Amino acid sequence: MNSSSKNENKNENEIVNDADNDYKQIQLLDILPNQILGLDIYLYLPTNNKYVKYINASDTMDFDQLQRLKFKKINELFIKRVDIEKYNRYISSNIRALLNTNANNEEAKQKSVKVAAELIISSIDMLSSDSDIIEWNNNCVELTKTVIDDIVQTDDISTAFDSISDYLSDRPTLANHSLVVSSLGVIIAMSLGNSDPRTLSEIAYGGLVHDIGLGELPSKVSEKYFNNEEMTLAEMALLKEHPRKGVILLQRNIKSKNITDNVLKIVFEHHENICGKGYPNGLSYNELSYLPKIISIADKLSFKMMQSRKEDISLKYIVLNLMRDQAGKELLDNKMIKVVLENLSYGRTK
Ligand SMILES: [Fe+2]
Ligand SMILES: [Fe+2]
Repeated sequence: MNSSSKNENKNENEIVNDADNDYKQIQLLDILPNQILGLDIYLYLPTNNKYVKYINASDTMDFDQLQRLKFKKINELFIKRVDIEKYNRYISSNIRALLNTNANNEEAKQKSVKVAAELIISSIDMLSSDSDIIEWNNNCVELTKTVIDDIVQTDDISTAFDSISDYLSDRPTLANHSLVVSSLGVIIAMSLGNSDPRTLSEIAYGGLVHDIGLGELPSKVSEKYFNNEEMTLAEMALLKEHPRKGVILLQRNIKSKNITDNVLKIVFEHHENICGKGYPNGLSYNELSYLPKIISIADKLSFKMMQSRKEDISLKYIVLNLMRDQAGKELLDNKMIKVVLENLSYGRTK
């Protein structure tokens, strides 16, 4: 890590204890501009193995300061472990503010939702107390309500796709993938005739957390997965563990009525295949549940969207493309894809 940024700040001289166990890494992305932090932020100086206080709890970081860190590729900051609860409160209030933003233009609203998803997904491994967990879950519910409302309120669900494609960015991340799968899951469920609010909530929530287990793997594995790069056998074996790890993470951390059996099934089964050769359990068609089959389709569509995000194409075109890809294979529920295709219009293309 480049440590020169310590020179930018008035707190640069405070050298503190270098015990790694006392500090917890956070991401630069977690810090929003001009928000009082409420806890001290540190930089790590690898040359002398020290943590240096960079910003005081009572201060804020402005946009330029954050940009300078980004420019210097300093993406990792640190907090004291004793401050984890304060940090979770900071993140949670930022998420709430983002989701309550009365953005008057669609682009600003999409951006707020996208940042909120980043904060939610990246903070799951920081939850330490029961109140953190409750807050985290409430934020997931708020985010998924926004996702569902946006889709339900469009005249034609195909047109909701236009805003969903803006959730993707040049750098595919777990958060933007999760947000896209959550949204696509709702569109698919609706185009299959589901309008029950509970089902839509389970789909949106399950889509948001379906890959949460990827965050438990070495970042190199998930990066290769999202960038469609070749993996070693050992990396593939690790990747195949993510559905199980996701379920364990949710069961361990979350005691919420929103984590239903259907949500856990979505997380566990989203890489199972119709032919019974998927992972982690190689379930057969008859053993597969309905909602995970929807999220499996949404998951594949999300990768197709990533490949074609620069082009002006409709959701119907991407679904058609997926159906052609899947012809003769027994991976996804092809009958389900066919029904989705029949019920989508071409919608507006940008
Ligand atoms: Fe996955
Ligand atoms: Fe996924």
